[in-house]
Amino acid sequence: MRKLKVGVLGATGSVGQRFVQLLAGHPWFELGALFASERSVGKNYREASKWFLPSEMPEEAAEMVVKSMNDIGTSKDDIAIMFSALPGAIAKEVEKRCAQAGYAVASNVSVHRMEKDVPLLIPEINTDHFGLIDVQRSNRGWDGFIVTNPNCSTIVMTLSLKPLMSFGIEAVRVATMQAVSGAGYAGVSSMAILDNVIPYIGSEEDKMESEPLKILGTFDGFEIRNADFTVCASCHRVPITDGHTEALWVKFKGNVSEEELKDAFKSFTTNIRTPSSPEKPIIVREEPDRPQPKLDRDAGGGMSVSVGRVRRGQIENEMKYIVQGHNTVRGAAGASILNAEVLMERGYI
Ligand SMILES: NC(=O)c1ccc[n+]([C@@H]2O[C@H](COP(=O)([O-])OP(=O)(O)OC[C@H]3O[C@@H](n4cnc5c(N)ncnc54)[C@H](OP(=O)(O)O)[C@@H]3O)[C@@H](O)[C@H]2O)c1
Repeated sequence: MRKLKVGVLGATGSVGQRFVQLLAGHPWFELGALFASERSVGKNYREASKWFLPSEMPEEAAEMVVKSMNDIGTSKDDIAIMFSALPGAIAKEVEKRCAQAGYAVASNVSVHRMEKDVPLLIPEINTDHFGLIDVQRSNRGWDGFIVTNPNCSTIVMTLSLKPLMSFGIEAVRVATMQAVSGAGYAGVSSMAILDNVIPYIGSEEDKMESEPLKILGTFDGFEIRNADFTVCASCHRVPITDGHTEALWVKFKGNVSEEELKDAFKSFTTNIRTPSSPEKPIIVREEPDRPQPKLDRDAGGGMSVSVGRVRRGQIENEMKYIVQGHNTVRGAAGASILNAEVLMERGYI
């Protein structure tokens, strides 16, 4: 099979570097262009990116020259997919320009996620929302399109909620312990985070409270009808490099036992079989002190989430558990790549 050429917008950042790492040697995709700010333009990628471990720098990216956003769509290239890891303010215009120019845009960025005709995807949950791509193209007259993946903490939580939907969810409360890589390379100063917990992450709680309802909603051929439960989130930054851990309290419409909940997690499977799809999207950890980011974030190549400590809550029909997942793999770059793989497999790209 001939590989498809792909570009990465924001390739030198925390998520962008993860994109490059996951796309190097990818069986279906080939790195065709890397884009970043004017600060990096014209440098080779090795020089421009603050790679965490130099030994992890993929050779096929190291000597590529970083391009400017102004280069997009100005000349005919053979790039089919643009993966986006740009800051929101820049992404809004650049991603639209890419879709207009005919690229399939698979974005990590929040700016387009909640627009009515933009799919917010977790392929194990809602490939039926792909139908919004036709709605988007017809609304906007674009040759290309934009699809998005959720916020990093939303993905981890929502994957764990999907198998519980059949029990009837009434309300979810969640408290997060989020890794520093989620704030971007320059996001949180070491003086602020070492020996500390920061109980505020700008607009994170709003995203966790709104995005799951769209993802778990139903597509009626024209638009998404949101799922009808509430989410109440409290988000916290902790001194962990990678891996978000989340404590959930889920109130159901009726009684659900610990065993029923565990069985639902264990038996959750999907028909998604692409290079990045994990064999098991959800892994149940039986040990009383799991999941932990250090031990569990790389499960399924970083694409599985781990669930543990399933137990009864204090109020009627409430259960609680912990879920953990890799924020820059499952929660960001890996999620966009999985979206693109499934779109390609189903003929949208
Ligand atoms: N980190 C996560 O876990 C995570 C998870 C889900 C979603 N996201 C979202 O993904 C996006 C990227 O996050 P990040 O953590 O990777 O940020 P980051 O480390 O700060 O990287 C930002 C990237 O954007 C480029 N950039 C900055 N200003 C630019 C400009 N004016 N024009 C063109 N390029 C510009 C940077 O290039 P230079 O290096 O040249 O400055 C860099 O490549 C954000 O929208 C974020 O909300 C992040």
